[in-house]
Amino acid sequence: NLCFCLPTGFCVGEYILPEGPVDVILGKDVTLKVLYKKQDGDIFIWIYSDGKDTSNVAVLRPDGSFSVGKAYKGRASINTTNGYLTLKSLKSEDSGDYDLTIVAANTLSGAIKVRVLEPVTDVVIKSDLPGAIKHNSTVVLTCSSKGSHLTFTWLNKTKPIVIDGDRITKEDSQDGLSSKLTIRDVLRYDLSQIVCTSANTLEKQDSAPFNLTVNYGPEDVILTPSLIAEYVPSKSNFNLTCSASSSPSATFTWFHDEKDIQATGPVLTLKVIEEKGFGKNPADYKCVAENAKTKRFVTSNVVRFSVMEPISGVSITGPSDILIAGNSSANISCQEKAGKVLERVWLKDGKTLSPSTRIIFSSDKSSIFIKTLQKEDNGNYTCQLSNTVSKENAHFKMVVNYGPETFEVTGKKEVELGDNLDLRCSVQSVPPAKIIWKINGTVIPNETKEVLSLKDAKYKDSGIYTCEASNAVTGKNATSSSTLSVKEEIEEGLSDGAIAGIVIACLVAVGAAIGLFFYCRQKVPMSSPY
Ligand SMILES: *[C@@H]1O[C@H](CO)[C@@H](O)[C@H](O)[C@H]1NC(C)=O
Ligand SMILES: *[C@@H]1O[C@H](CO)[C@@H](O)[C@H](O)[C@H]1NC(C)=O
Ligand SMILES: *[C@@H]1O[C@H](CO)[C@@H](O)[C@H](O)[C@H]1NC(C)=O
Ligand SMILES: *[C@@H]1O[C@H](CO)[C@@H](O)[C@H](O)[C@H]1NC(C)=O
Ligand SMILES: *[C@@H]1O[C@H](CO)[C@@H](O)[C@H](O)[C@H]1NC(C)=O
Ligand SMILES: *[C@@H]1O[C@H](CO)[C@@H](O)[C@H](O)[C@H]1NC(C)=O
Repeated sequence: NLCFCLPTGFCVGEYILPEGPVDVILGKDVTLKVLYKKQDGDIFIWIYSDGKDTSNVAVLRPDGSFSVGKAYKGRASINTTNGYLTLKSLKSEDSGDYDLTIVAANTLSGAIKVRVLEPVTDVVIKSDLPGAIKHNSTVVLTCSSKGSHLTFTWLNKTKPIVIDGDRITKEDSQDGLSSKLTIRDVLRYDLSQIVCTSANTLEKQDSAPFNLTVNYGPEDVILTPSLIAEYVPSKSNFNLTCSASSSPSATFTWFHDEKDIQATGPVLTLKVIEEKGFGKNPADYKCVAENAKTKRFVTSNVVRFSVMEPISGVSITGPSDILIAGNSSANISCQEKAGKVLERVWLKDGKTLSPSTRIIFSSDKSSIFIKTLQKEDNGNYTCQLSNTVSKENAHFKMVVNYGPETFEVTGKKEVELGDNLDLRCSVQSVPPAKIIWKINGTVIPNETKEVLSLKDAKYKDSGIYTCEASNAVTGKNATSSSTLSVKEEIEEGLSDGAIAGIVIACLVAVGAAIGLFFYCRQKVPMSSPY
């Protein structure tokens, strides 16, 4: 704002008005302020200029009254205190320069621009491509709006779109009423929710969020599980799943060794594979994802496997008749109802059983034959059938009757009078042997256990103890004996000889006493009859 005074004393551009422009919304009021402090007697002259023509707006007279130009009747007024000009209900034609001339000690003059802005409305985004667009194509979005002196900004959701001048460019129209956003090589997420904001200095308005579907893909076409064991158990809930990122969603087709197997959908179940008769042999499986809109199709990774039926219904059969060691033989066989058996293992009591001269395995190992059963063949037999996807067992308990054998009576041979002792008849037998105890060949009643207990041994307990064991199944029996003698205690009592000595001595003493009596009787002087 330059201020200079002409030689006439007429000064121009003194700071009597603030810097413009003053923006006002159409229909609203505006008050133009004055920086100069009004003195009594000053004259204020407000004149409008549209650049070509001028018209008087209002004049404040020295007496403090003001008059309004014809065109401004009822709309313009001057505040008599400070000279401010107020205009009501602005019309677009009110845009222009407002000159103020103040006639005071010096004559001052200034001007301010007023812009009447149309309200911002009708902010709309349009696309040059109808409907969904292809990934990688170029799209031009146009945002138009009503209003004046507008500026446009583009947002993706709430974040301003970065106009990089290369992939994304922006160009505003000459008339200032629209803005063009050009996006090359459209990315998937470029156009999720675009908003255009149209604004002037006083107000702004957002467009409705604009969604443009970008068709893309299929990409990242993945078949899972990607790692599969060589064999998959038949009838399990195994399935293959194909996924892809694609818009619109991809459709899938499935291939078995390069051949379309007429199965669709993202999941190929084992059920379908088996129903179509596949799986018996190893084969490659893959899926192809297709996007109908982009007309692209992409092949997944390949997985290879075959289907194996798990083993089931395993049963074991052994001899049902009574088996006798040394006489019977046994055939144990193991069968499965379903499944392909890759390995057969026989176990006895949990340990691997191997063929021997006595134990013969059939060529397919489905049965074992034991030629002459021995007592050692008693036990639990297990057949274990397995393939890659399963392992099944069956058990058979074999009872081989034998015995009685390895047989003896153990216990002390000599005990002292009053001692306790146990005699044990140890015998091996299946089924357990029936036991009888005898002394000197006479059955001891109610003694049928392996252990015979004697309490407080007496002389009469001495003798030959015999255990007789019999096995009703094998028809075998066995006996074993042990001699027991019950003796007098030595430390505390007298020996047999001493006892005899005492007896003899007593007898001698008694005999002597009797002799002495008669001797004495002869010798004792009595009243003699002589
Ligand atoms: C004129 O301006 C003065 C001071 O700013 C103010 O107090 C007064 O109310 C105004 N008068 C009118 C009629 O607006
Ligand atoms: C997208 O275009 C670029 C070059 O413009 C190209 O290299 C790329 O392969 C295209 N991508 C797709 C998915 O079409
Ligand atoms: C645009 O997408 C957003 C979110 O996906 C949704 O809320 C909105 O309703 C969509 N607008 C139109 C016009 O489809
Ligand atoms: C042994 O087998 C033979 C022939 O099979 C039979 O005659 C005999 O009775 C059997 N012996 C026993 C103890 O079972
Ligand atoms: C054992 O039994 C199986 C099944 O019953 C049979 O196939 C096999 O021939 C038999 N083996 C012998 C040695 O008897
Ligand atoms: C058994 O015989 C022995 C020797 O012949 C004899 O001393 C013992 O008293 C007999 N015991 C019984 C209980 O008969």
